Amino acid sequence: MNMQHLRLGVNIDHVATIRNARGGGHPDPVRAARMAAAAGADGITAHLREDRRHISDTDIDRLVKSIDLPLNLEMAATDEMLAIAVRHKPHAACIVPEKRQEVTTEGGLDAAGGIDLLRPYCSALADAGMRVSLFIDPEVRQLDAAKALGAPVVELHTGAFCEAFIEDRDGAPVKAELERIKAAAAHAADLGLECHAGHGLTFDTVGYVAAIDSIAELNIGHFLVGEAIFCGLDSAIKRMRALMDQARAEGAGARSA
Ligand code: PXP
Repeated sequence: MNMQHLRLGVNIDHVATIRNARGGGHPDPVRAARMAAAAGADGITAHLREDRRHISDTDIDRLVKSIDLPLNLEMAATDEMLAIAVRHKPHAACIVPEKRQEVTTEGGLDAAGGIDLLRPYCSALADAGMRVSLFIDPEVRQLDAAKALGAPVVELHTGAFCEAFIEDRDGAPVKAELERIKAAAAHAADLGLECHAGHGLTFDTVGYVAAIDSIAELNIGHFLVGEAIFCGLDSAIKRMRALMDQARAEGAGARSA
């Protein structure tokens, strides 16, 4: 049975959201990153938004200097963010769409419609040694655009699947959204792109996505930080890790049977 380890990237943005509600330094996202590492995370993800509503420039500086895990910096394609990424050189830079008024990242990056705009950012990030990832909807034309842009990694937006699951977990839209993710992951593999996925994943939904064997990494944040209120961050991450491993093992078992 050939089973690829599924990496878990823990997004710590919302530890900073809680800290910022009062100002000051508590709870500290860097402490959360260290705890995530101890609980089995394979990487840390942080989104430095243009409005700095959660993660701050100082957080990025401290994360780069003090965590041993690879840092995945989520960023908009702007000159300001490019300069910050090049200065800090995180392991990976994931380009995400960003609208100031949105509550969270709504929908994926329009790579297909923005090839000319994105190309210089992808090249500059890659030239500075970062692994470039594009956060896109699970659509063939977006994957083809990521390939054309030379990005080695795509992250598939799982938000539509997770929202459909909350509406009605047995409904046809859930199955359709999951099929879209599976088809996109297969197309990414055909194109030779490393495939990640994330947004909105919970204990209830993670298994469906983790079972897709060509997906190499999941990035999960809001649910883990929320669940930490009830059971602690360590326990929430360990349970997520276990659910991912279980789904991946069951998927591999089913394929080899
Ligand atoms: N991946 C990307 C690219 C994101 O922007 C986010 C958060 O907005 C996530 C994953 C994590 O999503 P969530 O916090 O819903 O788990």
